[in-house]
Amino acid sequence: MKPWIVVLILALVVYGGVYAYTFNFSPMVREKSIENWLQIESAKSISYVESSICKECHLRVYKNWSTGNHSTVECESCHGYGAEHVKLRSKGSIFVGNERDYCLVCHKELAGRGAVKTVSEGHGSGVICTYCHDPHR
Ligand code: HEC
Ligand code: HEC
Ligand code: HEC
Ligand code: HEC
Repeated sequence: MKPWIVVLILALVVYGGVYAYTFNFSPMVREKSIENWLQIESAKSISYVESSICKECHLRVYKNWSTGNHSTVECESCHGYGAEHVKLRSKGSIFVGNERDYCLVCHKELAGRGAVKTVSEGHGSGVICTYCHDPHR
């Protein structure tokens, strides 16, 4: 056999191998089916809990919140996911935002925004929003 034929055959084998792996056997392709995706997702640990869980330790805040203006906004919409915090039960293990921009994510005046009452960026300017508004009331 001529050497260039050997090289050609080897090249074809390598090409075939890479092709088959990429489009048939690689994890990315195998994980594409819905069953696999569900399996992978359900194996992940839980990161969110419900506001009723927060109530167990933060009863005062919970009571204020449930009769306040933000009663339709879940605790974790403002504080981020809380499962890790429920385990650790410590300061610093959950997000506490207090910048103006953080409140303006939902309250900034935007064209087409109707469901939530909005304020202009100049509203109460120079002071953080929680100086005047209790987020839990
Ligand atoms: C098992 C009890 C427990 C549960 C459940 C719990 N927390 Fe806490 N949380 C604590 C403790 C303890 C602290 C620390 C208090 C301190 O040191 O002053 C804390 C502190 C906080 C703080 C202040 C963090 C800081 O860095 O100042 C926030 C905000 C908070 N929790 C929100 C939540 C939310 C939201 C939930 C529900 C997702 C929740 N917590 C569920 C026990 C709990
Ligand atoms: C609209 C956003 C928002 C929602 C909803 C919200 N929080 Fe807060 N929370 C804040 C902000 C902002 C602070 C910081 C307040 C400050 O520094 O005066 C805070 C502070 C806290 C603190 C620490 C200070 C304190 O008052 O004891 C706890 C604990 C807490 N939140 C728990 C909760 C729980 C539990 C819920 C749901 C029942 C909840 N929060 C819902 C925005 C929110
Ligand atoms: C996740 C979205 C969200 C975030 C973040 C948020 N809010 Fe709200 N806020 C709402 C919704 C929803 C309502 C109830 C609908 C309404 O009345 O605008 C509300 C109501 C209010 C009201 C009462 C309006 C009225 O007179 O009826 C005030 C004041 C307010 N929020 C201030 C704040 C402040 C201060 C912060 C930051 C600490 C904040 N909000 C963060 C969604 C949010
Ligand atoms: C200096 C105090 C002060 C500060 C700081 C402040 N507010 Fe207010 N806010 C008020 C007062 C007083 C009202 C009620 C009178 C009015 O509508 O102006 C109000 C009303 C609101 C309302 C209801 C508006 C409506 O249409 O009824 C929202 C929403 C609100 N504030 C959000 C915010 C947000 C978000 C921030 C931070 C970016 C903030 N406020 C900072 C004092 C303040």
